[in-house]
Amino acid sequence: MKQPTILAIESSCDETAAAVYNEHEGMLSNVLFSQIEQHKPFGGVIPEIASRTHLQKIRPIITEALEAAHKKLDDIDIIAVTHKPGLPGSLLIGLSFAKAIAYARNLKLIGVNHLEGHAFSAMIEHKIPFPYICLTASGGHTSMYLIKDFGDYEVIGQTVDDAAGEAFDKIAKLINLGYPGGPIIEKLAREADFKDYFHYPRGKQGNINFSFSGLKTAVLYDLVKQDAFDMKTKTFLKDHDLILKQQVSSSLLVCIGDIFKQKLSEAIKLHKDVKAVSFVGGVACNRYLKTELATFCNERGLQFFFPSPQYCTDNAAMIAFVGNYKAKQGKFSDLTLDIFG
Ligand code: KG4
Ligand code: ZN
Repeated sequence: MKQPTILAIESSCDETAAAVYNEHEGMLSNVLFSQIEQHKPFGGVIPEIASRTHLQKIRPIITEALEAAHKKLDDIDIIAVTHKPGLPGSLLIGLSFAKAIAYARNLKLIGVNHLEGHAFSAMIEHKIPFPYICLTASGGHTSMYLIKDFGDYEVIGQTVDDAAGEAFDKIAKLINLGYPGGPIIEKLAREADFKDYFHYPRGKQGNINFSFSGLKTAVLYDLVKQDAFDMKTKTFLKDHDLILKQQVSSSLLVCIGDIFKQKLSEAIKLHKDVKAVSFVGGVACNRYLKTELATFCNERGLQFFFPSPQYCTDNAAMIAFVGNYKAKQGKFSDLTLDIFG
């Protein structure tokens, strides 16, 4: 049977992305334009700038994805597109473009939930036994899923306030490290040997929900106590103290690693039949966290999976992958498909 070729579009936040996938041939292309440089001066994503940049980049990125896959629009059978959740203006650009192609070419359209994309992203490269637990940690989301089958999953825990990536980004901003904070914090933490200097609080135990805003406050108060932060002017007073920056980064990373392990322990207690754990989303680029979680799973006889970095951060490949199994399940959308920010 001929497998359909899917063109996927992702524009939910600050990455303009497109991918081409065919189950028989594999992931044929996965290209993106990262808007990090545009948002860097503001220390976070500015929605208006994001949608304007998507508008400029979406057409060249789709062309690049088709060229890299050695395909033409004539070879495409299905358009898969992220339609929720995300920044409304950004989602609208991708969805409008997808609908226009689908309408003009009379192609099938499939709306994909960005979070479902992340949740199944480790399956692009790995065959993972069901049921398994997926920990998604990105700049916008931190959730734990019980994954029972393709497209069959349930949220078993999520953050009640900030996402894990947001905690890295906000704390990095507090000590003038730049944006995005995660990769810089990992580098500094390595220089401090991943030791726990300041023992930040691990939060409430005994449930699977995450809370990271208290962690940011705890780091802030600890800096104030060390005369390193002025609350009145909201300035970090020890910008030249590299050792302090390394120690904060290291303590923070170890703390977040402990929180992840704690929450996974709770999840495994409740769902004893799981065979594996996957760790996905932008934060899953972190090598320290991957090593810690791999050891944790190994000690409990669970298989551990994570996507390669190109499938961890926002990408269209994961949207194409979900689009493919939704097509097999006959879950198509029509041109009334709308965004849900
Ligand atoms: O998945 P993603 O690209 O975007 C969202 O959907 O939010 O994730 C971006 C997040 C940022 O918060 C960034 O700081 C974090 O992933 N991140 C990391 C690392 N690389 C990226 N966090 C910790 N360690 C890293 N190496
Ligand atoms: Zn994402």
